[in-house]
Amino acid sequence: MKTTIKEAKNHLNQEVTIGGWLHNKRSSGKIAFLQLRDGTGFMQGVVVKAEVSEDTFQLAKNITQESSLFVTGEITEDTRSDLGYEMQVKSIEVIDEAHDYPITPKNHGTEFLMDHRHLWLRSKKQHAVMKIRNEIIRATYEFFNDNGFTKIDPPILTASAPEGTSELFHTKYFDEDAFLSQSGQLYMEAAAMAHGKVFSFGPTFRAEKSKTRRHLIEFWMIEPEMAFYNHADSLEVQEQYVTHLVQSVLNNCKIELKTLERDTEKLAKVATPFPRITYDDAVTFLKEEGFDDIEWGEDFGAPHETAIANHYDLPVFITNYPTKIKPFYMQPNPDNEDTVLCADLIAPEGYGEIIGGSERINDLALMEQRINEHELDAESYSYYLDLRKYGSVPHSGFGLGLERAVAWISGVEHVRETSPFPRLLNRLYP
Ligand code: 4AD
Ligand code: MG
Repeated sequence: MKTTIKEAKNHLNQEVTIGGWLHNKRSSGKIAFLQLRDGTGFMQGVVVKAEVSEDTFQLAKNITQESSLFVTGEITEDTRSDLGYEMQVKSIEVIDEAHDYPITPKNHGTEFLMDHRHLWLRSKKQHAVMKIRNEIIRATYEFFNDNGFTKIDPPILTASAPEGTSELFHTKYFDEDAFLSQSGQLYMEAAAMAHGKVFSFGPTFRAEKSKTRRHLIEFWMIEPEMAFYNHADSLEVQEQYVTHLVQSVLNNCKIELKTLERDTEKLAKVATPFPRITYDDAVTFLKEEGFDDIEWGEDFGAPHETAIANHYDLPVFITNYPTKIKPFYMQPNPDNEDTVLCADLIAPEGYGEIIGGSERINDLALMEQRINEHELDAESYSYYLDLRKYGSVPHSGFGLGLERAVAWISGVEHVRETSPFPRLLNRLYP
């Protein structure tokens, strides 16, 4: 009977066949331990010399790393492994013998591993990170579907720039100029006026010359947009959504979190409500902490965000940033017109901003004024202004960066390990 490593738990004490690869092995004169992987998981296969044919035992001892195989044997309980079971191998059929697999169990440098990303994905740690990424994707669809949102797909090729003009990837669109989308938000606002609560989930591009552990050139963003929601309503959705992501990974990725040696106690603390601190109070706090380099009106850097995050166990919302350091579309704060109704959600443990969101300007005249102040081409925003002309309503939305969320929840240091084929400054291969 053919099965997979993951499903083998349903075949205890039965003989099964699994198609997989040899991840690693060790052997002595009498026994060989094969570390097998098949995409669904990693499992030990035990080959005992006295219980198999001489040919099979010799084969087991000589199989090379990453050769593809069919292995047949009985699934037995193994309380010492994370998986809980292993295979007593009876026979092995080699499908394809691999020679000189470049990634050996020794330590390789990051650049070497990144050059071999197409193979590095097979490693136990990288496999665990991608499974957690997949769970976060699944839980995202679950959350928004269960809460009455409609998925709408904004275009990738666009004529306008939602998040400032400096970080755009330029391309030709026949005879016109076009840009790769840096955010679907403006289109999602149009969609919210048609469907009420909407979300997008797609690739976004930033030609940012940043080489940090938090920056990718191409990343995936989830962008919900909600008609009739004010800023406070939006923060509640955000904290519920992020809590759902963490809970889903804790419940459904136990083996992967163990593989990654993630401190799950820290994740288990994540629950609503998340703390909120205004930008003003954050500046005061940073000054008290000895940061002399920050003045009111400046954006926070990674060290500032980390200092604020370290003050809390939970993700923290920094609210009401100064108008002049945020994009053109944010609704002014009625209590202080130098600031806007926005928040960045900062993850714990130094992972930085995972969400940026705001209430949007719904007044036509103010939106026109902002577009002028930011020296944007009013004509390409004409459709966006229409939303303020025909039945404008208060509305809010946010964007969560998938890879940053995966980095934090998995506990991997750098976002490059959270994307299957990361696009980084100076890296477009493989
Ligand atoms: O804060 P950002 O730029 O916000 C927007 O794009 C809004 N239009 C979203 C909205 O309100 N609909 O980006 C949102 C999130 C950030 O918090 C971060 O998690 C992620 O996208 N992000 C990046 N992730 C990886 N690499 C980069 N270069 C990123 N830039 C932003
Ligand atoms: Mg931001």
